[in-house]
Amino acid sequence: MEHLLVTGGAGFIGANFVRQARQRYRITVVDKLTYAGNRASLPEGVEFVHGDICEQPLIDELVSAADAVIHFAAESHNDNSLRAPEAFVESNINGTFALLEAVRKHDKRLHHISTDEVFGDLQLDGTDAFTETTAYNPSSPYSATKAGSDHLVRAWVRSFGVRATISNCSNNYGPYQHVEKFIPRQITNILCGAPAKLYGTGAQVRDWIHVDDHNAAVMAILERGRIGETYNIGASLPGDPHVTNKEVIETICELMGGTFEHVADRPGHDQRYTMDATKIRRELGWAPRYTDLRAGLEQTIEWYTHNRWWWEADKAGIERRYAERGQ
Ligand code: NAD
Ligand code: TYD
Repeated sequence: MEHLLVTGGAGFIGANFVRQARQRYRITVVDKLTYAGNRASLPEGVEFVHGDICEQPLIDELVSAADAVIHFAAESHNDNSLRAPEAFVESNINGTFALLEAVRKHDKRLHHISTDEVFGDLQLDGTDAFTETTAYNPSSPYSATKAGSDHLVRAWVRSFGVRATISNCSNNYGPYQHVEKFIPRQITNILCGAPAKLYGTGAQVRDWIHVDDHNAAVMAILERGRIGETYNIGASLPGDPHVTNKEVIETICELMGGTFEHVADRPGHDQRYTMDATKIRRELGWAPRYTDLRAGLEQTIEWYTHNRWWWEADKAGIERRYAERGQ
């Protein structure tokens, strides 16, 4: 494998992946540049195609020229999927379908990036975790379309022998994440002199992982993963204490000298996600390098503080949209 086609490479996780992978691979990025895509997240000199993964002829041509496809492109924000779900069905389901048809036709390796949200949520006071065999039970239009795309990938492996792997990862944080998402929204609110915004009571739990750890896991699966397999990716270990949204916001406020306020809760808000990533640790020897969330948050705060040029133009519009919903 020498040449990778990276879909959604101008988005948060994709751009960070390209920054890692370009040391070892030739990369072509295809990205529609929705509101979430930003060419400035990509380093100079990366081959870039401005296009939609739903466009079959374009995707056919790009897939035929590459050795493998890493599929990040998706509509990715739950809150948006509650307001306008169509684009989620189109990009996440039809887009994945178009890619699958192309890799089937040209017999190319595919790695499909998915989320822990396909499993639904867990009770706040439980100690259980999602494994690769947990039944799918998605709650939102976002997670339902990601679940649909995972099912398509499995069917194309089983029915047509497509050489694909899937990973389901927990919530990511780090540089180049859009200001609509939880952690960058709070950091940039405080940098703008506004309070951080906590949905509801903030008792919900997410299994935070640094984006570089997620991408190192993706690379391990691409290079050493077993075809047809699914791997869960998450940074916590069984028995680790759960981290609530309130605790994350309090840490950010403490590190930055800011305050937070409670705002309207998300309808159908998933309560807890906890990942069991034993399989990838054991089979592929992967382990996260960012094991201290506070230190990872400090580094992320530093990045947003020194890269206002990257996020400032998006901030006011995003906050206007949240304000319309009392958030
Ligand atoms: P993002 O919203 O930051 O980036 C998505 C990128 O895909 C953008 O650059 C956008 O322009 C592009 N895109 C959207 N529709 C497209 C289309 N039809 N054709 C071509 N490009 C298109 O998202 P992200 O946070 O980087 O997430 C990347 C992937 O990882 C997604 O599949 C998401 O479901 C998954 N994931 C995200 C997280 C997380 O915490 N952010 C966790 C687990 C899995
Ligand atoms: P988010 O980053 O949207 O990721 P996801 O919905 O995929 O988990 O939100 C993470 C958590 O933070 C989620 O429980 C909702 C909550 N949240 C807030 O409390 N305030 C906010 O401003 C946002 C955007 C999210």
